[in-house]
Amino acid sequence: MSNFIKIKNKINKFNKSLLIDGDKSLSIRWALLSSQSLKKCKSSNLLYSEDVLSTLSCLKKLGVKVKISKNFCEIIGLGLNGFKYKNNLILNAGNSGTLGRLILGLLVHSKNNLKLIGDKSLSKRDFLRVTKPLGKFGAKFVSNHGKLPINIKGTDFSKPIKYYENKGSAQCKSAVMFAALNTFGETVIKARKSRDHSELLFKYLKLPIKVIKRKKYDIIKVKGKHKIPSLNYKIPADISSAAFFIVLTALTKDSKLTIKNVNINPSRMGVFYILKLMGVKISKINIRNYKGEKIADLIIRGTGKIKPINCPTRFNSSAIDEFLLIFLIAAKAKGVSYFKNLSELNQKESPRLKWGSKILNKIGIKNTVTKSSIKIYGNPNIKIDRRIIIKNFLKDHRVFMTSVIAALSFGGEWQIFDKSSINTSFPSFLKKIEQLGANLE
Ligand code: S3P
Repeated sequence: MSNFIKIKNKINKFNKSLLIDGDKSLSIRWALLSSQSLKKCKSSNLLYSEDVLSTLSCLKKLGVKVKISKNFCEIIGLGLNGFKYKNNLILNAGNSGTLGRLILGLLVHSKNNLKLIGDKSLSKRDFLRVTKPLGKFGAKFVSNHGKLPINIKGTDFSKPIKYYENKGSAQCKSAVMFAALNTFGETVIKARKSRDHSELLFKYLKLPIKVIKRKKYDIIKVKGKHKIPSLNYKIPADISSAAFFIVLTALTKDSKLTIKNVNINPSRMGVFYILKLMGVKISKINIRNYKGEKIADLIIRGTGKIKPINCPTRFNSSAIDEFLLIFLIAAKAKGVSYFKNLSELNQKESPRLKWGSKILNKIGIKNTVTKSSIKIYGNPNIKIDRRIIIKNFLKDHRVFMTSVIAALSFGGEWQIFDKSSINTSFPSFLKKIEQLGANLE
């Protein structure tokens, strides 16, 4: 089967309702936390994507019992510091930064030597950001200049740490929180604002955690060695996956879409607020609480009218995975949009700030990009009538899916490579696109 798709036509207007796959951040956290419990933990609507399957496969290698069926996943963990495995075990995190970084937090006490590896894209990403703070617990990490592969040797005598997380990275914060779970005493983290799923899960499990919220950062205090109770969880839909359909609807005049059961955790809602500021008609209904998380149904209407934005940087962390899509919205705006302090975007599965600029160049939208900012000269009459080829060298799922949304929104004749990349985060993406009536080859 070919690993590209061809799109030759814009999508026609639609009026539909969609269900989106489960949240990736919550799926990975559910599995990792369940592995630390001695009780049976069950999840439904777990995202069965490659990143989550890599998580389950790493846990199995560490001796954890995992049962997967179509509707449920069951984990019987080994308790704190309970992993059982042979010396020199190799764990493969595949494409997943979240898995690769968070699992290191659970390995600061590993008795036998371990090696963490990943695919080509993950092997280009920075791990020093987690091995540095985790090293302070007493574990030893030997890496390839801060990159994978990493050899890990845990410690028997870990001590709690004080850590300042200054990138706004939930992966760094969570890795340290996971290490703190296994360490006697109180670990204190001062963290710039980032997604707070780990904190909410710790609170739901009644683990000893205190979170003091300040304007720009949070102080998080975690006391370790508390037994982890059973964690049964129904994973809500991922706002980062829903975002592809939100943007497609916003760019398709006279369309309407309802997306059900979406996780609207405020630390993930940057895309919602940025699009609202840009004039997109989007609202949330049926807001409810689920085990500390907020869930709602989203309704989006396509008017075709977009305003430019000087994007407030306070949204950067809560929209970090959606900027490629937000840039497409800016491409259609009447005026110039500006996004800054976004150097973290180049730390993702591929350098996404560069990719944002590349996609805009391909669709004929003037932009100026630096290492941390982009200025986009929107064109409300944007229309493409030529061939566009997207070679997705690092197989970045969000580059592939964003290109599909651009093709369906703006027209032209597209050939987009690396279709299989969707399997890392959103395996049913193309099926959902077809449900809305698009023609794909
Ligand atoms: C994630 C955090 C973010 C995000 C990633 C998932 C998480 O990364 O980009 O897709 O689940 O913690 P950073 O923490 O590096 O910003």
